[in-house]
Amino acid sequence: MKQLLFFLLLLLSFSCKTSTHEKPAPVKGLITQNAMVVSARQEASKIGTDIMKNGGNAFDAMVATEMALAVSYPYAGNLGGGGFMVYRESNGRIGALDYREKAPLASTKDMYLDENGEVISKKSQLGAMAVGVPGTIAGIFEVYKKFGSLPIEDLLTPVADLARNGIIITKKQEARFEKYKDLFFEANGDTIPITSGYKASDTLKNPKLAETLERIIKNGVDEFYRGETAEKLVNFLQSRGGIITMEDLAKYEAKWREPVQFKYKDLNIISMSPPSSGGVCLGQIMKMIEPYDLKQYGHNQLETIQILTEAERRAYADRSFYLGDPDFVEIPIDTLISKEYLNYRMEGFSLDQATLSSTINCGIIPGYESDETTHYSIVDEYGNAISVTTTLNGAYGSKLYVPELGFFLNNEMDDFSAKPGEPNMFGLIGAEANAIAPEKRMLSSMTPTIIEKDDKLWMSIGTPGGSTIITSVLQTILNVKEFGMTMQDAVNAPRFHHQWLPDSIYFEPNKFDQKLFKELEAKGYNISEKESKISSKVNSILVYPNGTMEGGADKRGDDTAVGY
Ligand code: DON
Repeated sequence: MKQLLFFLLLLLSFSCKTSTHEKPAPVKGLITQNAMVVSARQEASKIGTDIMKNGGNAFDAMVATEMALAVSYPYAGNLGGGGFMVYRESNGRIGALDYREKAPLASTKDMYLDENGEVISKKSQLGAMAVGVPGTIAGIFEVYKKFGSLPIEDLLTPVADLARNGIIITKKQEARFEKYKDLFFEANGDTIPITSGYKASDTLKNPKLAETLERIIKNGVDEFYRGETAEKLVNFLQSRGGIITMEDLAKYEAKWREPVQFKYKDLNIISMSPPSSGGVCLGQIMKMIEPYDLKQYGHNQLETIQILTEAERRAYADRSFYLGDPDFVEIPIDTLISKEYLNYRMEGFSLDQATLSSTINCGIIPGYESDETTHYSIVDEYGNAISVTTTLNGAYGSKLYVPELGFFLNNEMDDFSAKPGEPNMFGLIGAEANAIAPEKRMLSSMTPTIIEKDDKLWMSIGTPGGSTIITSVLQTILNVKEFGMTMQDAVNAPRFHHQWLPDSIYFEPNKFDQKLFKELEAKGYNISEKESKISSKVNSILVYPNGTMEGGADKRGDDTAVGY
C-alpha cells in the first residue's frame, strides 16, 4: 500500500513538473477590425480611437493622443519635450517627422564641464540647464497641417476636458510620484501640485494644463512658440537659471525627414532616421543577424543571444562614433546599413567565444572624416499607420514643472555627449558627431518603426527605454517573424540588451535561466541581471492578411490597446 502511495505521488509530481514545462497557449492582445491605438494610458488610447470613430484619420488621432498622454502620463507624455513619428499612408507613401528638442542658442560644447574639464554631475539631467528647446507642439501642428482632416478644436477639446476633469491615478503612477519626490523637490525647490499627495484611485485634475491647451486651440502653434505661453515659459526658465530665450522658441521648427529603409528577409522595415540612431542601428543589427538561422537556435536560447549580442555590440560602437544631428554632421547611412560593410563588421564573430568590447571600435569607412519616453502606435480604418515615440528623456524630464502652464520640461540635453568618452544617463558614449552646439539636435535612440510585408502594412511598433529601445524593438519584431509569436506574446516575452559599453548583457530580472548565464559566462560574456537597464514598454499593432489587427500593449506599464 505504502509503495503504491509512493508510486502515485511520484507520478503526480512528475506530471506537475512536465505540465510546468509545457509551452503556454498563445495569448492574443485586443483584436479589432477597423482601427486601433496602443499607448501608455487607456485614456489616451480611447481619445485617439474616438477621434477615428468620429471620422478622423490616424494623423488626427496622433495629435489628440500625443496631448492626451501629456495629461494622463506626465512621466513621459509632454508639451515640454520632443519626439519622432514614422508614418505610412494607405497608398504606401512613407515619411518621418523629427520634432526633437534643440540645444539653445546660448549653449556651448563644454557647458556641462567644470574648470578641470570634468562633467558636472546632474547639470545636464536636473533643472533648467538640462532643458532643450521643446519640439512637441511644433510636431503636432506640422502633422495637422499636412494630414489633419477634422477641426483642431475637435481634436484637442477632449484633451483639455480630460485635464480639467481629471485622470484616475494608477498604482504604478502613485509609486512613481513617491519614487521621484526628492528629485522634484531638488529641481523645483518646492512640491509640485500635480504629484504631491496623490494615491492610487484618486482623481488628478490639472486646470492649468487645460488652460494652456485651450490657448493653443485658440491661437495655434504660435501660442507655444511666440505667444503668452512662450513668454510664461521663458520667464519661468530664466528665473530658474535656464538659458532658453524667446528667440530659441521662435526659431524652433519640426522637420520632415526621409526615414531609414532596409530589407530583412521578406520584410521592408521603415524606421527613424538621424537625429535618431534608432533606424540606422536597427538596420545594422538586423542585417548582421540576417544570415543566421535564429529559428533553428530557438527563442532566447544560447546561440540566439550570442548572435544578437555580437551584432548589437558592433552597431552601438558605430552609433557612438558616426551618429548625430544630420544638419550638423555627415552620416554615411547607406554604407552603415550596407551588406558589404556589415559582413566586414561581423568578421571575427564566432559562436565559440565572446568578442570583447575592448577589442571593438567603430568600423572604418574609407573617405569618412571625421539614450522617459513613451511610444504609441495607431492604425486607422483607411489603412494609414503611424508610429510615434515621444519623450522628456528622464522620468518627468528635468523634474522641473511649470506651475503656471501645467507641464514638465525635458532634460534632453543629457542625450548629447557632454565630453567624448563620458557616459550619459543611459551609459551611452559619444564623440564629436554628438557634441553640443547651438541649435543642434541631440542624438536619440528612439525607434518608431513601420513594417511592410508583401507591400502591405504588417506592423507598427516602438518603445521607450533609452538605449534599450533599439534592442527591444528588434527582439519584438523577431519574436513574431522568426519565432511565430502573437503580437501580445512577442511584447510579453523576456528581453535582454547589449550596447557595446559597458561590456555586459543586461537581462530582465528573474526571467532567464541561471544555467544559460553559466553557459554564456563560460564563453566570455559578462551577465548583468540585477542592475537590468531594461525599462522598455513596447506598444505595437500587427495587421493580419485579412486586415484584422492585433494590439500588443506592454503590461510592464499601464499600457492599453483600444480600438473598434
Ligand atoms: O532619445 C532618446 O534616446 C532618449 N532621450 C530616450 C529616453 C527614454 O527612452 C527613457 N525611457 N525609459
